[in-house]
Amino acid sequence: MAEAFNDKLLPSGKAARYAAVAEEIAAVLAGETNLVARMATVASMLANSFDDYFWTGFYVVDPVKPEELVVGPYQGTLGCLRIAFGRGVCGVAAATGEIQIVPDVHAFPGHIACDSRSASEIVLPVRDAAGRLIAVLDVDSERSAAFDETDAAALQSILKEVFGG
Ligand code: SME
Repeated sequence: MAEAFNDKLLPSGKAARYAAVAEEIAAVLAGETNLVARMATVASMLANSFDDYFWTGFYVVDPVKPEELVVGPYQGTLGCLRIAFGRGVCGVAAATGEIQIVPDVHAFPGHIACDSRSASEIVLPVRDAAGRLIAVLDVDSERSAAFDETDAAALQSILKEVFGG
C-alpha cells in the first residue's frame, strides 16, 4: 500500500511529475481489479497532482448503447451525462480512436461546454487488454493550450498500465 498521497512531494517538471504519479497510481491499484475503483483512483490522483487539471474523468462506452459515452468517475464540476460518438472532443476521440489535444476548445467544431471555464482539453481513448475501446479519459483546463505531447505520452502510458490496452 502506498503512503498517503501528497502532491507537495511531487517533482515540479511535468514529465517527472507524471512519472511519479504513475508510480503512485500503480502502487495504490496493485491487486484491485474493479474497473470503477481503477477509474476513480486515476481521476483523483491525476486531478490532485496538476494545477491545470480543472475537470478530470472518464466517459465510458455504454454497454447497452455502444455508440454512446456515459459519464464515469470524475473530479470537477458537474459534467454532462451522455455524449454520442462523433460529438464534441470526447465523441471524436471515441469515434476515431485517436488522442485529441485541443488548445482552444472554442475553436473545436461541436465542442460540448459542460463548464464555460474550460479553455483547453486533452482526450485519450481507453482500451482494455484485448484492444477494445472501453472509455475515454477527458482532462479539461481553465488555461488555453495547457496540454501537449508530453501530457499525451504520459497519460497514454498510465492508461496502458492501468487498463491494459
Ligand atoms: N469537453 C467535452 C465534454 C465533456 S466535459 O467538458 C466534462 C467534449 O467536448 O467532449
